[in-house]
Amino acid sequence: MSAASSRDGDGDHDGGGDAPRSSSSSSSPETFATASLSQSQLDANAALAAQIRASKLVLAPLTRVGTLPFRRLCAELAAEASSSSSSSSSENLMNGIVTVSEMAFARGLARNDLVERARLRRSEIEASEGNCFGVQLATNAVDEGVRAARIAADAGARFVDLNCGCPIHEATRRGLGSALLRSPKKLARLVSGIAEGSPIPLTVKIRLGVTDSSANFEKVVPALIEAGAAAVAIHGRSGEGRYKKAADWKAIERAAAVAAQESPSFAKLRTPIIGNGDILTFFEAQRRIGQTPGISAVMIGRGALIRPWIFAEVKSGGEEWLPTAEERATLIYRRLVLCYKDYLGDDARGEHKSRWFLPSSIDFLNRYRPLPQSVYGGSGEVNDEDDNDLSPLMSRRDDLFDPLLGETLDSLSPLERLLRCPDPESHAAIAAALWRADSDADAVRRLQGVASESLAGWEQRVRDGGLFRSSSGSSSSSRDGDDEEGLGGGEEEGDERSRGRGRGSPGKGTRTRKLAKMKKEAEAGGAAEAVA
Ligand SMILES: Cc1cc2nc3c(=O)[nH]c(=O)nc-3n(C[C@H](O)[C@H](O)[C@H](O)COP(=O)(O)O)c2cc1C
Repeated sequence: MSAASSRDGDGDHDGGGDAPRSSSSSSSPETFATASLSQSQLDANAALAAQIRASKLVLAPLTRVGTLPFRRLCAELAAEASSSSSSSSSENLMNGIVTVSEMAFARGLARNDLVERARLRRSEIEASEGNCFGVQLATNAVDEGVRAARIAADAGARFVDLNCGCPIHEATRRGLGSALLRSPKKLARLVSGIAEGSPIPLTVKIRLGVTDSSANFEKVVPALIEAGAAAVAIHGRSGEGRYKKAADWKAIERAAAVAAQESPSFAKLRTPIIGNGDILTFFEAQRRIGQTPGISAVMIGRGALIRPWIFAEVKSGGEEWLPTAEERATLIYRRLVLCYKDYLGDDARGEHKSRWFLPSSIDFLNRYRPLPQSVYGGSGEVNDEDDNDLSPLMSRRDDLFDPLLGETLDSLSPLERLLRCPDPESHAAIAAALWRADSDADAVRRLQGVASESLAGWEQRVRDGGLFRSSSGSSSSSRDGDDEEGLGGGEEEGDERSRGRGRGSPGKGTRTRKLAKMKKEAEAGGAAEAVA
């Protein structure tokens, strides 16, 4: 019996109790396991679906950078920008955003691993009405997933999300992440088993397939809906695709169409399909929402890391904000640091722990370029037949300056240049200066001091490593790439800028060791202590 038939009471389930029924799986090659959910589970799924459809915005799970302080910043900015402060529930839903934790290993959660447990924490605003926080799980076993979902529910999560997208070897060799897409039948059994046993809704995040040539999303998406997924987020690339090509929004559109055609439950449950990939500006978000038939919401990852106010721009109805360097330094960078101080403690230990998180965030924040709608709003037309051949704005984030805006290197202030510098040491120095600043003015003063003291050397090193592109050469390759999920032992593996610098500089090995040491320390102390 499917999730939908159960909801409608036209099967053998009367909806009178919370106890899940066992799933059925057919031996026919074309059928998949279906979930039998209790009425309260179906109601919870429907409530989550309504929230996603109203909010339309989901902050993607982002290992290592999508931390509680970062999610808090995004959610607070969005709430502040929302047009009304209505107390009506439906308007609250429209004002809020959906946030997802960093990926937690279900097995680690069940073992009470403190690092995994730390990922369950949500900020106050994520717990407030209108917003909605879920925990992403990596698992391939029903019992493990159900236990983890119960733990997440006890910690206050409104839903759990199954990671079926992580492409890195570390995950796939263990049968996790995108490896789950290899067998849609097994995946459907996994999803129906977890959905039935979980006290909170289960959503699923997928890629188009394991490889481009084996893309099977058209089979997987309807199967997931029948298996009880409360929503399906689709990153428009295959696992092997990493970030090499632009996200395929035509495929996302097809996935939504196929869900409507092939899933008997889809129409009854109105299961949200969430599109994900390459959204960097609010106008791209608006366009994807408005012009991708069948999707209910968009999920934003790197765009939020680079412009944490992107949700605010959408919520305000498209009020563009192109902050100056001073504004970014105070209203974004420093505010993020203050969120970290709240989280980690405003003392030497907190500062020490922050070194694991803040420079990574600043690495993304430093990729901000203005990209005004008046200049770039026409790029990447969604309806074009050859949409996927267009280079998304995401590919422009590494250009140092923008001749289209009349920028030259010399026209940028030292502070602006510091906040665009890709050298990792600059990120650490920015973090240290901001941690010590005791006011916005002090923050700007300290950053200006950092710029006058060290910027020239960092820029030279970056130039030597070939990491600055001086104008608008576009490439959809990315430095976010191979190790996006943060599992593979250091962000440098897939980090284009770091790779470049690594080749050109003798510092890479040392830095890798330093990072590994910091990671160990943070895992032993930082994240774990943040649980308390
Ligand atoms: C630093 C980083 C960490 C990520 N961590 C996760 C993760 O833990 N789980 C997951 O499903 N996807 C993860 N992703 C993928 C994103 O959620 C998202 O699907 C992808 O970046 C495409 O969206 P975007 O173009 O908006 O960034 C990560 C991506 C990045 C850049």
